[in-house]
Amino acid sequence: MVKIAVLVSGGGTNLQALLDAQRDGRLKSGKIALVVSSKADAYALTRARDAGIETAVLPKAESPEAYGMQLIELLRLYQIDMVVLAGFMLILHPNVVRAYAGRILNVHPSLIPSFCGAGYYGLKVHRAALDYGVKVTGATVHIVNEIPDGGKILAQKAVKIKKGDTPETLQKRVMEKAEWKLLPQETEKLAKKIAKKEKKH
Ligand code: GAR
Repeated sequence: MVKIAVLVSGGGTNLQALLDAQRDGRLKSGKIALVVSSKADAYALTRARDAGIETAVLPKAESPEAYGMQLIELLRLYQIDMVVLAGFMLILHPNVVRAYAGRILNVHPSLIPSFCGAGYYGLKVHRAALDYGVKVTGATVHIVNEIPDGGKILAQKAVKIKKGDTPETLQKRVMEKAEWKLLPQETEKLAKKIAKKEKKH
């Protein structure tokens, strides 16, 4: 069974979507073995504990490189095979990307390449989409490489912007209609692919 770590920083609704998928059997090729939060007060930690999942808090370190080294050590301790970024607000150092090449997924709340990269996270992404005046936005699940939001796109789903939308209403619709569907689906697909690869070895 592929062991998955989910990295979070906030409310954890995407983590909840993964936990629900695991409970319903939609996520079956991998098992969420660890939830790592960059913030000690993230509600995502409560969601993980309620589901009986092991948790760890790894606050911002003195440098991204040091953070990456600590994270790799933690992931190795739990024998993690695959990592899912679910509202994780720090950019991973290349050392982590290299250690888990092709095995890290991220969900981003826009249609990449719009409104993405360093500085675009959470509500800021939706505010930027509304300020620009686009009529359609959405969410993207992609492989994490060394370029922020620059890795191979695995899935995207478009969501229409409605008259009177605020960053908050738009965020909620993008989560419900796109993120919570795409992330569990792509997590299962990648876990299945990794499981197949490990079998061969
Ligand atoms: C989600 O919309 C996620 O896509 C976004 O933060 C939110 C976290 O919500 N992530 C990024 O912006 C990363 N660049 P959650 O904690 O409820 O899942």
